[in-house]
Amino acid sequence: MGLLKITGLSKKYGAVTVLDGFNLDVTECTLRCLLGPNGAGKTTAMDMITGRQRADTGSILFDGHEIRGLREDKIARRGIGRKFQIPSVIRDLTVQENLFLAAADEVNPLRNMFRFGIGRARGRIDYVAELVGLKTRLAAAAGFLSHGETQWLEIGIVLMQDPKLLLMDEPAAGMTEHEAEKTVEIFNMLKKTHTLLVVEHDMAFVRGVADAVTVMHLGSVLAEGTMAEIEKNDEVRHVYLGTGDVADAA
Ligand SMILES: Nc1ncnc2c1ncn2[C@@H]1O[C@H](COP(=O)(O)OP(=O)(O)OP(=O)(O)O)[C@@H](O)[C@H]1O
Ligand SMILES: [Mg+2]
Repeated sequence: MGLLKITGLSKKYGAVTVLDGFNLDVTECTLRCLLGPNGAGKTTAMDMITGRQRADTGSILFDGHEIRGLREDKIARRGIGRKFQIPSVIRDLTVQENLFLAAADEVNPLRNMFRFGIGRARGRIDYVAELVGLKTRLAAAAGFLSHGETQWLEIGIVLMQDPKLLLMDEPAAGMTEHEAEKTVEIFNMLKKTHTLLVVEHDMAFVRGVADAVTVMHLGSVLAEGTMAEIEKNDEVRHVYLGTGDVADAA
């Protein structure tokens, strides 16, 4: 049984059908990649899962419970975290301070952090920093991090809330080859303890991390399988026209 199970999800914006009977199953402690050409509905699917947008019909079961229709904050509290592309880190604070603020549930975490230090959150901060490869950068100001490090900190910030399911939209975008390779290592470590759903256009990256792949086209599932199976699929090659080869799609 999947941790996340979506069936028959549909969404229209006016007369435009963006999701059309979309199905998705994500097994616990695996990483599934969501592929598809621009406009296929990948980001919209994530918006439906997190409650940012509402689907018209269909079902989204998370951990066996229906979450379609729940408010965004309620869904987050059930254990679905999402990393956005736009950085949310505070540049003037250090890596560990940014992680602390992400975990804090008090009214004025900033004041308490300066008054009492990061105390109780220490263990979790170290654990998360280790996971995202920032253990040696804890004292660095976030504003001095490289693009790749900033993205890892963003992932760390989401992890501080200990989500069961982590959604990421194009996490390797804009990274150097070296940073993307390191991100592959981070994700392979993460999926031992977390369940991940990742949208990514970088096929080398997908090959490095995906346990399973779903290819979307026009709001529904075109193909599913391992990356090796997907790359051999003629229909998939066809929707990536222009290159004729899913391996070159970007
Ligand atoms: N709020 C909205 N109102 C109207 N149309 C929308 C809205 N959000 C998305 N769409 C349309 O839905 C379709 C799917 O968009 P979506 O952003 O989900 O695609 P995507 O697969 O994430 O594409 P990309 O790879 O470019 O990120 C597009 O045609 C888009 O224009
Ligand atoms: Mg998108």
